[in-house]
Amino acid sequence: MIRLAPSLLSADFARLGEQVAEAERAGADWIHVDVMDGRFVPNLTVGPLVVEALRRCTRLPLDVHLMVEDPDGLLPAFRAAGADRISVHVEACRHLHRTLARIRELGAAPGVALNPHTPPEAVEWVLEEVDTVVVMTVDPGFGGQQFLPSMVRKVEQLAHLRRERGLDFELQVDGGIDAGNAAQVVQAGATVLVAGHFVYRHPDGVAAALRALRESLGPRAARA
Ligand code: DX5
Ligand code: ZN
Repeated sequence: MIRLAPSLLSADFARLGEQVAEAERAGADWIHVDVMDGRFVPNLTVGPLVVEALRRCTRLPLDVHLMVEDPDGLLPAFRAAGADRISVHVEACRHLHRTLARIRELGAAPGVALNPHTPPEAVEWVLEEVDTVVVMTVDPGFGGQQFLPSMVRKVEQLAHLRRERGLDFELQVDGGIDAGNAAQVVQAGATVLVAGHFVYRHPDGVAAALRALRESLGPRAARA
């Protein structure tokens, strides 16, 4: 099953609760929350306080994408706030294996994200430890950027490794995903599509956007 994870980065922050509810009603599978520290990426967003507020608005899994340097110290606070899934960047962790184990110990599903320039081999030795691998299909930091087509090959390589090792981690793509490229990344092996701008800035609204994304995948990916 292909999961859709709307990213709140392009939502109306004055009505975050409503925007989450809209996505939930429209059949979103996870809610993607982008956390930025102004150091790992040149932008600042939200912390555990906002995750805690979102937790009260939805029953959907909260998928927290930490774009922060050295995330270890923040993990307990995000987990206590209600994060179900926590992804960290391979480029931001000195002891990635330990960080992923810590996320699991805290009771969340660990994920590892790769910037566009980072080769798939960078996560080769932690694939057994993760529930999600996130292939960044833009440079992280901002919503509404253009999808990088060269990342399709990285998705294929990770999907190949997943098959070869008999693993079942989710393969998430994040950045510039829309109804024009979703089928291509799913064909390459992606199982979770993050979409911010396409979902929250769609002229016909959130429900129409999610429908368009699903329909673009063809009948095989239709919701059961
Ligand atoms: C980028 C974030 C993405 C972003 C995706 O740094 O990690 O989650 O919100 O948004 P779009 O779909 O607008 O590229
Ligand atoms: Zn993200």
